[in-house]
Amino acid sequence: MESSDTVNKTPDDSSGGIFGAILTETISSPINLALLGLIVFLVYRIIKSRQEEQRSEPVEKPLPKLKKRDFTIQELKKFDGTDEEGRVLIAVNGVVYDVTKGKAFYGPGGPYSAFAGRDASRGLATFNVTAGGDQYDDLSDLSSIEMESVKEWQSQFNEKYDIVGRLLKPGEQPTNYSDEEDETNTEKSKDE
Ligand code: HEM
Repeated sequence: MESSDTVNKTPDDSSGGIFGAILTETISSPINLALLGLIVFLVYRIIKSRQEEQRSEPVEKPLPKLKKRDFTIQELKKFDGTDEEGRVLIAVNGVVYDVTKGKAFYGPGGPYSAFAGRDASRGLATFNVTAGGDQYDDLSDLSSIEMESVKEWQSQFNEKYDIVGRLLKPGEQPTNYSDEEDETNTEKSKDE
């Protein structure tokens, strides 16, 4: 009668045997062992340097959220990111956004700095990065395609940035956003 060892042997065991043999061969050869060690060491160094890179990126503290308010085109102008606080606001289709977290785009020296502290609607509609108006612009001469384009940009801004308020038409009175409403909004954003 065959021993139980022989009876229970399957083809899988033999392939395990091959892998086992390769493993034994690898770790028994000093050169292979050294190469394996080198690979492990290099992978460790790459992972470590990536982690250090992430840690060393300057973490700019986000500015406190602006209290909800409306702006005239002149009031908006001072938020072009050049003052000490560095806050950047832009208007798109009558809505004012705090785009400070996109300072690399809109801040001084950024590719879209002409939009900072301004109404960017016309520039976005006409793909002109130098068009950021100083005067109120009712956009009434824009084609429907251009207006569609502004609205598409606007939905991107809605996704990415906080809304501060509205851009006022000349002579238009600012909305009085109550503190209560402001607190509710803040609470809401905390929950998000
Ligand atoms: C050669 C032409 C252009 C190139 C290569 C270019 C490239 C880019 C790139 C790489 C981004 C960043 C996308 C991201 O990381 O989310 C971006 C964002 C943007 N681009 Fe351009 N762009 C060009 C022209 C324009 C023009 C003409 C306008 C004006 C309408 C424009 C307006 C913007 C805006 C508003 C953003 C979004 C920034 C944000 O997320 O706040 N770009 N562009």
